[in-house]
Amino acid sequence: MAEKIVLAYSGGLDTTVAVSWLTEARGFEVIALTVDLGSQPNLPAIRERALRAGASRAYVLDARQPFVERFCWPALQAGALYQGQYPLATALGRPLIAQLLVEVAAREGASWVAHGSTGKGNDQVRFDIAVAALAPHLRVLAPLRDGMSMTREEEIVYGRVRGLPLEIKPESPYSVDENLWGRSIEAGVLEDARLKPPEDAFLWTSPVDSAPASADELELAFEQGIPTAIGGRELAGVDLVAELNRVAGRHGVGRIDMIEDRYVGIKSREIYEAPAAVVLHAAHRALEELVLDAEAAHFKAAVAQEYARLVYQGKWFTSHRRNLDAYVTSTQRFATGQVRVQLHKGSAQVVGRSSPASLYQPRLATYSAGDQFDHQAAVGFIKLVGLPVRTQAEVQGTATSEPLLKDDGHVVEVGPGGLEGGLAEPVLAATLPGIVDPDLGR
Ligand code: ARG
Repeated sequence: MAEKIVLAYSGGLDTTVAVSWLTEARGFEVIALTVDLGSQPNLPAIRERALRAGASRAYVLDARQPFVERFCWPALQAGALYQGQYPLATALGRPLIAQLLVEVAAREGASWVAHGSTGKGNDQVRFDIAVAALAPHLRVLAPLRDGMSMTREEEIVYGRVRGLPLEIKPESPYSVDENLWGRSIEAGVLEDARLKPPEDAFLWTSPVDSAPASADELELAFEQGIPTAIGGRELAGVDLVAELNRVAGRHGVGRIDMIEDRYVGIKSREIYEAPAAVVLHAAHRALEELVLDAEAAHFKAAVAQEYARLVYQGKWFTSHRRNLDAYVTSTQRFATGQVRVQLHKGSAQVVGRSSPASLYQPRLATYSAGDQFDHQAAVGFIKLVGLPVRTQAEVQGTATSEPLLKDDGHVVEVGPGGLEGGLAEPVLAATLPGIVDPDLGR
């Protein structure tokens, strides 16, 4: 009897050929699994195609809700942006698909799972590591990496000869992965990092030129770091993200163009569209500014970076993430409130925020009447804060000692190469008459 293998099946050319190749060349019984994370696939058609390509069974699952609630929300609460920019749409989707591969394999008694990643990207790492974490006994095969190796043309011939139900669209100029949290676009002309991405790379966002001339203002509500409403209208996670993608995308918000450090060691030029994620991260950050104490805010920024790296590198199902989640969850206890965001011509600008747990106290912050801040206390405060610096200066001298003021009373000019250590740009080229009295020091 043939061994069973569960294949993550998108319905595209690669995985349709893979169904047949796994059966024919590798002798497997193939069970197809298609997961909807919000890219609006035609699920009945994909299911039909999987079966016609030779799969013995075809699962099609709508996992949008768990995707948003169990994967996107924790990443949002953590503030996870890879290299400070990429909201990790693809990277968050992979572990969910891997989990479903594992669960379907258990249900079907399969000892293998398969996915359509190539040997060059991060996705293979994410699938393989997630499966290893959840079901170390399972074996993983990635046909495109592990032996199937066909060019697009060879795949088409292979499929035609066998009468596979190929849906051959005109070859996309890009490689795209899409889910509710964002759209990842790479390859083709985008590989020339000098060039502006052509407009046809974008599907969700308007170019600034045709974005509405007038701004829109949205009020987003959060409860313990989770978005719950837009403009006072409560929405389930999936609907909230979908709506924000529409509204912010119309204003051209959420385009990202970056050089990314792939886990496999390559630098690659990546384009993303992630209107909802970009707006939500900005709003969530603004709310945290209000409710997190300075110590937590400082430390959490480091956690955010670590969290993003971990997600990017496919380490979702690890105790490291659990541990970071525990910290993040604790920081979100007071992250409840409203944030107003203005959308206009590609930018999402926070313009107001409020929270019942706000630590921003006007009576302490104000420069006007009603100031309750103790100005005299500042004197003692500075005395102690400055104590080690004063002591060190007295005993060891001042650490930075290049004088700025010349003997003639003018400010020094630092020419190219004028500073040791190769600081080439002049720091200050001109003198500043009127500020420095030229007679000073004579
Ligand atoms: N570079 C991004 C990441 O590693 C996007 C990958 C997109 N995948 C794709 N098959 N086009 O998360």
